[in-house]
Amino acid sequence: MARSVAELSFPTLMSLACVLGCGGAEPPAAHGGDVDWPRITSNVAVDPALEERVESILSQMTLEQKVGQMVQAEIHNVTLSDVGQYHLGSILSGPGSYPNRSKASSVTDWLALADAFYDASMDTSQGGAAIPVIWGTDAVHGHNNVIGATLFPHNIGLGATRNPELIQRIGEVTALEVAATGIDWTFAPTLAVVRDDRWGRTYEGYSEDPEIVRRYAGRMITGLQGSAGSPDFLSSSHIVATAKHFIGDGGTDQGVDQGDNLSSEQQLLDIHVQGYLSALEAGVQTVMASFNSWRGAKVHGSRYLLTDVLKGWLGFDGYVIGDWNGHAQVPGCTNESCPAAIHAGVDMIMVPEDWKAFISNTVRQVRSGEIEETRIDDAVRRILRVKTRAGFFTSGRPSSRPLAGDASLVGAANHRSLARQAVRQSLVLLKNAEGLLPLPRNLNVVVAGDGADHIGKQSGGWSVTWQGTENTNEDFPGATSIFAGIREAVTAGGGSATLAVDGSFDERPDVAIVVFGEDPYAESEGNLQSLNFSAEHGESLELLRRLKRQGMPVVSVFLSGRPLWVNPEINASTAFVAAWLPGTEGGGIADVLFRDSEGQVNFDFTGVLSYSWPMDPSKTDLNRSDPNYEPLFPYGFGLTYGVVDTLSGDPPEFHSSRSTTELPATPALPLE
Ligand code: BGC
Repeated sequence: MARSVAELSFPTLMSLACVLGCGGAEPPAAHGGDVDWPRITSNVAVDPALEERVESILSQMTLEQKVGQMVQAEIHNVTLSDVGQYHLGSILSGPGSYPNRSKASSVTDWLALADAFYDASMDTSQGGAAIPVIWGTDAVHGHNNVIGATLFPHNIGLGATRNPELIQRIGEVTALEVAATGIDWTFAPTLAVVRDDRWGRTYEGYSEDPEIVRRYAGRMITGLQGSAGSPDFLSSSHIVATAKHFIGDGGTDQGVDQGDNLSSEQQLLDIHVQGYLSALEAGVQTVMASFNSWRGAKVHGSRYLLTDVLKGWLGFDGYVIGDWNGHAQVPGCTNESCPAAIHAGVDMIMVPEDWKAFISNTVRQVRSGEIEETRIDDAVRRILRVKTRAGFFTSGRPSSRPLAGDASLVGAANHRSLARQAVRQSLVLLKNAEGLLPLPRNLNVVVAGDGADHIGKQSGGWSVTWQGTENTNEDFPGATSIFAGIREAVTAGGGSATLAVDGSFDERPDVAIVVFGEDPYAESEGNLQSLNFSAEHGESLELLRRLKRQGMPVVSVFLSGRPLWVNPEINASTAFVAAWLPGTEGGGIADVLFRDSEGQVNFDFTGVLSYSWPMDPSKTDLNRSDPNYEPLFPYGFGLTYGVVDTLSGDPPEFHSSRSTTELPATPALPLE
């Protein structure tokens, strides 16, 4: 229940949240009026015995050791002896970082490196307390930096499933695959509420609307970390999760990555913080500060947002991790130095490369009084609290933990079938003229388009590599391309499938399935000016039109990290499916497109839009709460086999008055 700030004084809140003192937090500065931030009670109860253990470790630490705990270095930029010498609290493997710099690294290689870093952190020959290092990675749609892992649909597709139970299961399975490699912590889930689809990270968000993000966040945290308050919590089959990026990452002006969020404080609460409420309740142990600014001020430097709001009103007692050199964007800071971010409330600073200078500068700044030591103690206390809760002081070397090294968990058959279920449920049917779908299995099908047999393209960014580029199908062992899934379905049913990226054929097929869409990208590389897909990808439209001219029924399977203006492509297709970025289990698409062996519906479409689909390419900030909401397909739209498409009669459920069969090929507003 939301409590008003008038009902509960801030010191009372702080004492409830910290028990043994969270030093550094002060009553919130007046800011932006009378916003009623709710008081969240985490399901992770404060444990006085644990807090005492933390205090005891803290009391044995020198300043250098404390500052070292607060720093996270990148595995390609740190040696094993550095970890002991500088008392590093954490390491990360950034996207594209692998043991021995080889993306082919096996589970054994990952685990051996985890052991080596752990051993280095427990080596007290240079003095100080033995504190296990924590290793973080971006397992954002499965354990995506590890070859052979199960890759789930990116979050935009999961939003379409409207299935919180599934989200929790995905969290559980991701945790198992990460635990098998000896890694402790994932920088996920992303809880962005995405307001402008030009943003290059749109697909990392579940929805444009806080409703779904809030419903999912707690479930994903529970899946990853285990159920707070139960023995399962942070047990050996779970990992530490991160709610990111706090706050307002999905609401920057014009969708610019790392840009400025101009929301009022009330909008921050009503829209952007909603996912954090259920995540904090479920006991998320870390929160990542966002690169973006809020009304001109970088979040990494905002004591109001990180300390007063997050740790104060929202009661967060875990630690705040900075984003990749995010502190350096705070005025007056550089990669090597940033008292302002520490003062603001970043507890662990992600300094991938320049961490040595950062440590020495921070130690000096504490000695000179520029940074208060009580604030350092607060940060380290939070880090030790999480490490203790996660059992790192007792669980031993990564390889001694129950799931470690179990290569059969990575890409396990039951994990892949869960991912395939997620793919089926994420598909949104936007057009089905003449009831073309579902297709019988005994057809001769040509499968065309550059996404047809391209697992990298169907997986999107954050897939083995950061941008998801420079991969071949061999980099996804055990995965199924969309074409392979179709071929399996039709050959089992007496039909045939031919792969022809350019749509050519010798013998006229019964139907063409064209798989096309956006090429992979991540973060700012994916920022767009306009949502006009055809303007950049004329070749796909040409292919669709050619097949249409040949009199072929055409099923479009559209791969994208966001809704895009594709009216010409929809018009050139008989049926049109928004498939998002489905990940490694492409077989889920054939499951839905084709009937079963008895000729009955195999799986119906159940996915519905979690993002509004634009009527014209310039309508980039289209959201269901808009006063003059005019989407082409509204939030919640999705045809099913049980509902007749407009061409055949009744308007389908959820549909606006617009027919799906006759879309304007020219936008109502001029193109940019
Ligand atoms: C991203 C984060 C990610 C971090 C570590 C940053 O560029 O913004 O989401 O967790 O890198 O890879």
